Amino acid sequence: MKSETLCDIGFIGLGVMGHNLALNLADNGYVVACFDLDDNKVAQLEEIDTQQRGDKPKRIFGCSSFTQLLDSLKKPNLLMISVPAGNAVDDVCEHLISAGIKADDIIIDTGNSLWKDTVEREKKYKKDFIFFSTAVSGGEVGARFGPSLMPSGDPYAWTRVAPVLKAISAKVDPTTGRPIERFEPGNPVLEGEPCAAYIGASGAGHYVKMVHNGIEYADMQLICESYHVLREGLKLTALEIADIFEKWHDGVLDSYLMEISIEVLREQDPVTGLALVDVILDTAGQKGTGLWTAVSALEVGSPAQTITQAVFARSLSSFKQERVIASEILDGPESVIYTQEQKQQIIEQLHDALYCSKICAYAQGFQLMAIASKDKGWNLDFSAIAKIWRAGCIIRAVFLQDINNAFVENEHLSNLLLDPFFSQQITKFQMNWRKSIASATLMGIPHPAMSSALAYYDSYRCKTLPANLLQAQRDYFGAHTFSRTDQPANKKYHLDWSASPRVLRQV
Ligand code: 6PG
Repeated sequence: MKSETLCDIGFIGLGVMGHNLALNLADNGYVVACFDLDDNKVAQLEEIDTQQRGDKPKRIFGCSSFTQLLDSLKKPNLLMISVPAGNAVDDVCEHLISAGIKADDIIIDTGNSLWKDTVEREKKYKKDFIFFSTAVSGGEVGARFGPSLMPSGDPYAWTRVAPVLKAISAKVDPTTGRPIERFEPGNPVLEGEPCAAYIGASGAGHYVKMVHNGIEYADMQLICESYHVLREGLKLTALEIADIFEKWHDGVLDSYLMEISIEVLREQDPVTGLALVDVILDTAGQKGTGLWTAVSALEVGSPAQTITQAVFARSLSSFKQERVIASEILDGPESVIYTQEQKQQIIEQLHDALYCSKICAYAQGFQLMAIASKDKGWNLDFSAIAKIWRAGCIIRAVFLQDINNAFVENEHLSNLLLDPFFSQQITKFQMNWRKSIASATLMGIPHPAMSSALAYYDSYRCKTLPANLLQAQRDYFGAHTFSRTDQPANKKYHLDWSASPRVLRQV
């Protein structure tokens, strides 16, 4: 159906995220021209808008080609695309070039693109149009009612798109730092601090979103490991675990991921009537953003072991058949029957372990962003990033306000663990963290993310690591040299390990 007036924004790609973002734009008063290769998706979206608007003017208009889409828009064109990361983004860009897009038109990529691709695209399309990006977090519901947005690219384009992105983003109550919930279609509440802030030059927003997802992987895995100890170690039911999580949620562990875990644990399987979680096959999927984070951490040399372990945990889960065979062959410890009192103690320790591990996972994510920011000259603002993650995104949590406070207090904070609030929290809870890891180990319950978080903490606070021996080993077999504790670090030495007597040379 054609609009009588020109539309404000063109939207391409009406999958789950695109469909909901387009409705969100319409709710916020924008008139949207939509296009998807699947005509049914276009028709379905128009139908929803018609029902929602009733007698009022429609805000969503379907188009059947790229040319019709461009013809329907106010000039200069503003377009948003939501298509799978990779070649599909370039396909859309090429189609729009063929359809006559102009140099001052803006295309905003809202997909989960790899940040390096975004950097390349900005350069590649410079003479054809302005390639801008905004990473989107919040899944289906976030896209519909307010996601967290991480825009980056041309600063001039940001001045043009900022009002739109701020309008559709999630909002935070500035006095409490808590999300303003507005899960109602129609005209949304627009008050509050928007969860959309300019992240930096091209690629920065997608990088930050990638790290968000790495943290998301770690956060999810940590909750799952806690569930595992309760389910397999203490033999509690899904409902009993939901009750425990609910108590935890009412404190420092208050988060969206905890909230949905409680709901999941209380869900019944419509087929068997059992707890749904008990009939879901234990093999995890992944689309790749956690892996990208781990790869980037390895590339820039930033220790992000909890995030990386969370990726590996998903990989290992996919070896289902092998694990079933191994479970028959490989012994673990004898299972123990715990008293009520012991169970209570294990549950309390596990709570503190989850909290301390979570602090470390976030510390790793922010440390990675700090190193990447320096490396790529992005000048990332970490208090702003923590702020826009307080609502709308998957890792939203009360905790993000504490992270924001830490960076407001010290914008050059090199590691969250050094912030007085977080270091005191870990001091307070660390013995339970250690005991919890010890009991999970004795139970034979795998807890790769949690134990890697503790290893990160203990390594980071360690004045002398055994890397001295490692350097000696390297020098022994490969003459790779070492620095001395009693000389400046840039002076390198090699010991002739085979000479008798040994000869030490500065090289
Ligand atoms: C978000 C999510 C979203 C997502 C990814 C991760 O922030 O809204 O992170 O981007 O769910 O698709 O999915 P995988 O778990 O499949 O990697």
